[in-house]
Amino acid sequence: MRIDILTVLPGLLKGPFAESIVKRGIEKGLVEVNLHDLRDYTTNKHKKVDDTPFGGAEGMVLAMQPLHDAIVKLKSERDYNEVIFLTPDGERLAQGRVNQLSLCGNILMVCGHYKGIDQRLRDHFITLEISIGDYVLSGGELAAAVLTDALVRLVPGVIGDEMSALTDSFQDGLLAPPVYTRPAEYNGWKVPEVLLSGDHKKIRVWEEEEALKRTKERRPDLLD
Ligand code: ADE
Repeated sequence: MRIDILTVLPGLLKGPFAESIVKRGIEKGLVEVNLHDLRDYTTNKHKKVDDTPFGGAEGMVLAMQPLHDAIVKLKSERDYNEVIFLTPDGERLAQGRVNQLSLCGNILMVCGHYKGIDQRLRDHFITLEISIGDYVLSGGELAAAVLTDALVRLVPGVIGDEMSALTDSFQDGLLAPPVYTRPAEYNGWKVPEVLLSGDHKKIRVWEEEEALKRTKERRPDLLD
């Protein structure tokens, strides 16, 4: 999988991709993540990448020219399965969409800033708009990092069996059951007896019951 990210703040994304799962996926050659700085595409002599919105509204929008030219150039170099704009008014991200996107070969993510991007760019280039939740971030970068992490962990071979993505919360429509580790008793707090029984069938049943209980309590909407 190849992910290209167009941003005015590439520095904000370097950290998240230099650690943990995404780093591992890149090192194993299973994913490629490329950061493209919008400032490299501007023809403005002061390297300005924002502009005022028509209509006199407050705030700024990303300038048309660098964003247009950057998207056109990147699209001319490869076929993207999706050109995703990260925006609070996009589709709320959920595991089903992540699963579907994880099958893509090439994804371009466009990070908005200020008040966003010109609607004509959305109309002509963007194939999918994603929000990571009902709150407003200062830009799309952290949302792009979240989406990238969620995608990369599903790429076959990136994570080992020890943290199988198939047992993640949401993968079976339920939240994950509670987990415990050694020692079996700590501070007088005991691990549920069944987990020490060695009876794998009984343990699976217990985990399913706990997952269902937790989902009913915390996210009954998932059961609808
Ligand atoms: N940009 C700003 N806020 C965002 C959000 N909640 N999701 C995705 N992109 C955003």
